[in-house]
Amino acid sequence: MTHDRWVREDAINTIIAERKKGPWPVVWRLLPKKGRLLEVGCSAGFFIEYVHDRLANLSLTGVDISPSAVELAAKRDVQRAQFRVADGRSLPFANGSFDVVYSGHFVEHMVDPVPALQEQRRVLVPRGMCIVHFPHGDKPYVEHVHDNVRFVDVRDWLEAAGFRDIDSKPVVHGPAVDEGIMWGLK
Ligand SMILES: C[S@@+](CC[C@H](N)C(=O)[O-])C[C@H]1O[C@@H](n2cnc3c(N)ncnc32)[C@H](O)[C@@H]1O
Repeated sequence: MTHDRWVREDAINTIIAERKKGPWPVVWRLLPKKGRLLEVGCSAGFFIEYVHDRLANLSLTGVDISPSAVELAAKRDVQRAQFRVADGRSLPFANGSFDVVYSGHFVEHMVDPVPALQEQRRVLVPRGMCIVHFPHGDKPYVEHVHDNVRFVDVRDWLEAAGFRDIDSKPVVHGPAVDEGIMWGLK
């Protein structure tokens, strides 16, 4: 699933509105109140903008493999945010650069999510948090490499990537898709 197909999805505005009502407030409450956040697969910067308007002391970096996504994201009115074109499987950041790494609706698009999660772990500080937000189960609104993603799948991927103290929130029900939120510590 490329960014271009994602933002052309007719339902994109509805989906983003649902994210703001359902899963993003849940993710937001998990975030540190200050420090450095990286979002992998940031698309046009919807989540970064949401966080920017709510956490004034968090510096924000978004990466996406799609140049057109990053171009759109960079037009947002988010002064504390930076956006870069990058592949989540090979992040252009030094070890220990971030306090928290978030990816939303990203892992289910990876043929093998573990190397991408290992890369997220590499750029985290010790005890930094990796938050994975994914469609729980599947409803056919976009194509995924992994259908029917369950908490046990994401837990396996996080453990294989080296994360510990893995925990999750109960599924967040939404009209387009049910959302799972799971995290682990470096
Ligand atoms: C379904 S969209 C989700 C966008 C956003 N995170 C959200 O929840 O609204 C998946 C995004 O991941 C990006 N992506 C796919 N493979 C990637 C990779 N290897 N590295 C970085 N971004 C990638 C796509 O370009 C797309 O913007």
